[in-house]
Amino acid sequence: MCLPTGDTPGPVYRRLVRMAGSGATSLGRATVILLDEYVGLPPADPARCDTRLDRELISGLHRSPSVHRIRVDDLDPVAAAAAHDLVAAAGIDLAVVGLGMNGHVGFNEPGSGVEAPTRVVTLTPGSRQVATARYGASAEPLSGITLGMDRLLASREIWLLVRGATKAAILKRALEGPQSAECPASWLRRHPRLTVLADEPAAAGLG
Ligand code: GLP
Repeated sequence: MCLPTGDTPGPVYRRLVRMAGSGATSLGRATVILLDEYVGLPPADPARCDTRLDRELISGLHRSPSVHRIRVDDLDPVAAAAAHDLVAAAGIDLAVVGLGMNGHVGFNEPGSGVEAPTRVVTLTPGSRQVATARYGASAEPLSGITLGMDRLLASREIWLLVRGATKAAILKRALEGPQSAECPASWLRRHPRLTVLADEPAAAGLG
């Protein structure tokens, strides 16, 4: 499965940790592939996606899944993206993704087409700011690596997690607006097994 970071999945990860602790579930036999990562942040930076996933989910699990992080520390960014894509090429059963304020999925920022591949991307000013202001990054990252729309749409199933009133307008656009690169999340509607898991404030604007 592909897993996202950001603020949205926190409650889901906390619940999973509790369930794993009580024996109600286990991720011990799962293989996890990270959705995206910043380029240029030092290892263990609090905003790093791998650090967050470890902190919020993996470290709390009794039996750890096998985790494919993005190799930004030991490979150059283009090679790290290629290596990650090779992992994704084996196929993803379940892609869990969040929704960016500008409609991004992973770091498939606006402008990403339906076949956008796994790659190094230049982050939008908004995404750069979120890294420092909301996630506590030690510096503003200029770029990131993301699984491509192509790999996400080739998954057997997709769950889109959306939380909070600030996401209501972009969720409406993603689900009810035109399918276009201006809102990459709108491409998710092409998938036959898309489940949108939104809380009430996020879903408030849906028709
Ligand atoms: C971030 C990440 C995405 C995340 C999305 C939403 O920048 N690149 O993986 O899903 O934007 O983040 P949040 O849940 O914090 O709103």
